[in-house]
Amino acid sequence: GVAIGSLLKETGLVTVDPGFMNTASCTSEITYIDGDAGVLRYRGYPIDQLAKSSSFLEVAYLLVHGELPNAAELGAFVERVERHTHLHENFRNLIGAFPRDAHPMAILSSAVSALPGYYPESVDPFDPARVELATVLLLAKAPTIAAYAHRHSLGQEMIGPEPSLGYVGDFLRMCFADGGEYEPSPSLAEALNLLLVLHADHEQNCSTSTVRIVGSAHANLYASVSAGINALSGPLHGGANEAVLEMLRDIRESDDDVDTFMKRVKNKDKGVRLMGFGHRVYKNYDPRAAIVKSTADRILSELGKRDEMLDIAMRLEEIALSDSYFIERKLYPNVDFYTGLIYKAMGFPTTMFTPLFAVGRMPGWIAQWREMMNDPTTKIGRPRQVYTGHTDRDYVELDAR
Ligand code: ACO
Repeated sequence: GVAIGSLLKETGLVTVDPGFMNTASCTSEITYIDGDAGVLRYRGYPIDQLAKSSSFLEVAYLLVHGELPNAAELGAFVERVERHTHLHENFRNLIGAFPRDAHPMAILSSAVSALPGYYPESVDPFDPARVELATVLLLAKAPTIAAYAHRHSLGQEMIGPEPSLGYVGDFLRMCFADGGEYEPSPSLAEALNLLLVLHADHEQNCSTSTVRIVGSAHANLYASVSAGINALSGPLHGGANEAVLEMLRDIRESDDDVDTFMKRVKNKDKGVRLMGFGHRVYKNYDPRAAIVKSTADRILSELGKRDEMLDIAMRLEEIALSDSYFIERKLYPNVDFYTGLIYKAMGFPTTMFTPLFAVGRMPGWIAQWREMMNDPTTKIGRPRQVYTGHTDRDYVELDAR
């Protein structure tokens, strides 16, 4: 990296690569994707094995520390995270100050930006113990913030954590408990754990690259992750899970049938896209989408919430997979195509779908930020440009324009 960097400086060579289609911004040991073969591995472990057997915090430990924890390491890590799930009382005021219909992603990024003000002892990006504390605090507090945002949007009292229910179970309780005791259904907790594991990292996507570039200026972990949350909110990125459900709802409620909708997509009618399809890196079935699809089928049937929209989604996929428009462009379902249906069956409103993605992506953002900060070849992110504006011209006084 250093040698190439100085060579480019000496020759004055600049490459233009919009959207970084062919430019690697870093080397990384965290996540491997083979987009042509549809392969995803975290630290070498195939995603389907982790999805089948691991807990979200176990995967978080793996991503951040590089190895699967043994029982004692996992126990200590989980205990530490669960000990910090409480939020300072002021966060009820901070979140409560937002309008009820404010998007929870705005609340999540704002509250994450506010965290270093409450935990100044954890902000130093170069002190390993403080970085570990910030790691634990972010993992611990993200679900609580998301749950508070959810309850605030419904005008319900924000209820604090009860760590004995476990990370995922307690998150469900903070979102859905309606006074009195709350026992999350094991299949719901299992499905949510799985979705969080599937979202935990995905190498240099838009939000992760944002986290890295903000961190490259030595901004602290919270500031960097907050920027990543904002990047994730875009409908071409994490916001796609919300957009998919809106698309399915529109199809169900409009006079258009599935075939007419697909014609509009292929004609690029008003730029309409089949949301939840296509990926910069996967030119094959997204391995996460395959796992989510079978989970959606199972969990919706189990909950007795098999939805007409699942049938619409499956029909869209069936058409797409045999249609030359999608085949030629190698467009397959991505992770977001089926997740929204599961979140909806769990009882989450569409606006909560992307915050759920953010809670899942937290370990990846943290691991990538830490890897970058520990890499001696890291330089501040500062892309070049090729200027195409006016050449030199003289200022014109206001009254002469
Ligand atoms: N529906 C219809 N056509 C599509 C779609 C789609 N979902 N995705 C891509 N295309 C078409 C484009 O129109 C383009 O066609 P052209 O060659 O005739 O111009 C071609 O396929 C290539 O598409 P690009 O936009 O150049 O691909 P890019 O890699 O830049 O974009 C992206 C990838 C943003 C994911 C895109 O596929 C998309 O918009 N998908 C829908 C949104 C979505 O699901 N995003 C979630 C991504 S996964 C994640 O963030 C978790």
